[in-house]
Amino acid sequence: MSPFLSDVPAGLLDVDELLAQLTVEEKVALLTGRDMWHTTPLPLRGIPSIRVSDGPNGVRGTKIFDGVPSSCLPCGTALGATFDPDLLAKLGQLQGQEAKAKGAVAVLGPTLNIQRGPLGGRGFESFSEDPVLSGLLAGHYARGLQQEKVAATLKHFVCNDMEHERMAVNVLVTPRALREIYLLPFMLAISIGDPRAIMTAYNKVNGTHVSESKGLLQDILRDEWKYDGLVMSDWWGTYSTTGAIQAGLDLEMPGPARWRGAVLSHAVMSNKVTVGQLDDRVRNVLGLINYSAAARVPENAPEEQLNRAEDRALLRRAASESIVLLKNDDNRVLPFSKGGKTTAVIGPNAKTARFCGGGSASLLPYYSVSPYEGIAAKLGQEPRFAQGSSDHRLLPLLGDQLRTGTGGEGGGKGGGEGGGQRGFTWRAYNEPPTVVGRRPVDERVLTDSNCFFLDYEHPDLAPVWYCQAEGTFTPAESGVYDFGLGVEGTGRLYVDDELVVSNVENQKPGTTLFGAGTVEETGSKALVAGRDYRVRVEWGCSKTSKLPSVPPVGGQHGGLRFGAARRIADPARAIAEAAALAAQVDQVVLVVGLNGELESEGVDRTDMGMTAQTDALVAAVLAANPNTAVVIQSGTPVGMPWIDQANAVCQAWYGGNETGNAIADVLFGDVNPSGKLPLTFPRRVEDNPAYVNFRSEAGRVLYGEDVYVGYRYYDKTKTSPLFPFGHGLSYSTFALQDLVVVDQQQEEAGGSNSSSSSETSTAAAAAGVTRITLQISNTGSRGGAEVVQVYVAPPAASSVGRPVKELKAVHKVYLEAGQRRSVSIELDTVLATSYWDEGRSQWCSEAGEYKVLVGTSSADTPLEAALRVGRTRHWTGIKP
Ligand code: BGC
Repeated sequence: MSPFLSDVPAGLLDVDELLAQLTVEEKVALLTGRDMWHTTPLPLRGIPSIRVSDGPNGVRGTKIFDGVPSSCLPCGTALGATFDPDLLAKLGQLQGQEAKAKGAVAVLGPTLNIQRGPLGGRGFESFSEDPVLSGLLAGHYARGLQQEKVAATLKHFVCNDMEHERMAVNVLVTPRALREIYLLPFMLAISIGDPRAIMTAYNKVNGTHVSESKGLLQDILRDEWKYDGLVMSDWWGTYSTTGAIQAGLDLEMPGPARWRGAVLSHAVMSNKVTVGQLDDRVRNVLGLINYSAAARVPENAPEEQLNRAEDRALLRRAASESIVLLKNDDNRVLPFSKGGKTTAVIGPNAKTARFCGGGSASLLPYYSVSPYEGIAAKLGQEPRFAQGSSDHRLLPLLGDQLRTGTGGEGGGKGGGEGGGQRGFTWRAYNEPPTVVGRRPVDERVLTDSNCFFLDYEHPDLAPVWYCQAEGTFTPAESGVYDFGLGVEGTGRLYVDDELVVSNVENQKPGTTLFGAGTVEETGSKALVAGRDYRVRVEWGCSKTSKLPSVPPVGGQHGGLRFGAARRIADPARAIAEAAALAAQVDQVVLVVGLNGELESEGVDRTDMGMTAQTDALVAAVLAANPNTAVVIQSGTPVGMPWIDQANAVCQAWYGGNETGNAIADVLFGDVNPSGKLPLTFPRRVEDNPAYVNFRSEAGRVLYGEDVYVGYRYYDKTKTSPLFPFGHGLSYSTFALQDLVVVDQQQEEAGGSNSSSSSETSTAAAAAGVTRITLQISNTGSRGGAEVVQVYVAPPAASSVGRPVKELKAVHKVYLEAGQRRSVSIELDTVLATSYWDEGRSQWCSEAGEYKVLVGTSSADTPLEAALRVGRTRHWTGIKP
């Protein structure tokens, strides 16, 4: 049988014909991945395997372990801070091209969950606390990606907003909050970008796991929204055979099957799953394969690198446009001067490129630029430096500070000849280290000492296997060094054959390796500057450990993570030295924050603070030199107990490849900052709306703040946060004026739409458009961009309690100094005024007098105009 029929375009599968021809076993095979990153092919039927790859920060390809480098985008919150859908579309397109270079036809992103509070381990991955901003950005990102015919995968549908017990937790959420806050981003992104795939969340919503929720997958996604793309599970997030198929989960990922395969064939044979239901699922898998044919990616393609100059420029632009100038007091500390002034760079985050958060979003970047490197390049000389404090909770990764040989260049001050390559030699064995003369089955040179072998494959590997990592460390400074080793499996770390860390006996479950690993065990040794030391780790795979495996990623091969740092023996002295340096220079850049270990998949943060030592460092440096710019790198808010002493503060997120260059561009005035906070920064963690409901308690989490998420809560409770949603300063100033709001439908009807009667509209009914126009002027002396933010406030006499105002549109506009422009924005009136009516299970645009509020942050909306909705409408569907 040929799958290609004449009425089907050449090169595409004839889905109907295939459904008629395939056996049940063949259909079942198509419904689970072949492996971690591929669908199952049926070569005899002409059905190829297609490759998917994580997103959302960059396209990692098929290897978590020893991956092919890729471009690394700024993290989700950084992209959120650009408030720029067009930029997101461009970045999406770049992702599409990267995907093709990596042989993938679907990117597992964007992530559009909601930051209910500041502590979510994956908060950095999502765009915003606001559903409209999230949906808008995700939709355009998907649109850009799919211009390359690479499918976008919206994830994680829905309410995967924290990490604690993420597979087991039951999210208790009202239908209204579910619709208005958590489903709305998906709904908007689908209508804007038509993403060809959706990934289900791990958690339950109101008692049912999403991957087997008929209410969410069939009733809402398929029937109400008419979504016709593919629905796949999150990795190992399928929990049933019949239930998941019947609910509408097309593809179980990854393979091999846990819930499908022979078990599903049995369910079909016994008619628990009908052939019709099976066909519905297979149709969507074949549909995605057909869609991706246009990407022209060969099956099982090799993975390649792009790393083009134009991509680097785009990434630099995105990173610099994401930086939010939180504070720049009257004395106008920023921008700093490039010439004629002395500069010091201080802080634990200064010399390490914090380019992305942790977990499946992370990848091996083509390159990364630390803030120190970016500033040195900008100044054309090395600034003075002091670390001042250490902010790590896990010891910093050691891999890229090692060399494969001994002596020579790589270590800077190392003695002797040779040197070898940067990194360490990694060898896999089938015998333990006690076997003399064992031979490696695999050997590589690596720089990343966070090795998780989740998707590692080697044909000669035994079920129980071992590895060794070995390299030379030449410390630049003498002192006591702490070494750390976290494993899934067992491991020992030696320095010059002396056992320094043992992680074999009495192992304790911890947060390393996506939460599948142990706590980091540590040991220390005094080292002398300039001397070579052989660091060696001997590791045994997960089966050598007695600890139970931790789902979803535990229990495969396992992994190891090793790091080291010189101990700051006298923290007070390190701070005093940094402050003394600050006092000696004209301008100080102080780089602090979090990192991909503190913000990572698998674990939420426990508090909002940086380390006490880092806060003390900030306070001391600010006291020593008021001409200090504090740069914070984090994906979500950190506490700032020293904020009143700071004159200039920037939120720089995790900026991807170009992190350090982007920071330097903004600090030294080559880029005028235009980033806006996509999430509220509270003063104290206790102030945030999810504070009392953030962990899984006895298996459930109550979304008790209901629709009052983010600024909706701070507005309602009149709590002033540290920095409000939408806030972000510029080196210029802007003025908004002459707001005019016209509801076109009313205008056309001569303003006679005043009936208060209720009627149900269908998708076909003409929807009203509200046209908003205003003038914006750049009243400062530098060109720059400003974001016009449009909020709608409900009628005073609304039939349900509603947020004080809600964001409905954003418009970013660039203006030269002194320039004035008129801005025009259109809103779908019904969409912009609707709330979810639980009584009818429909959206409701209630008649009444609304207000359109326009400004440049949620706390600054100087322009106001009335918007009258003449009659109440109820509606359902993807849009009114
Ligand atoms: C994450 C997904 C990711 C998948 C594959 C899961 O742990 O939740 O976002 O796409 O792994 O890496």
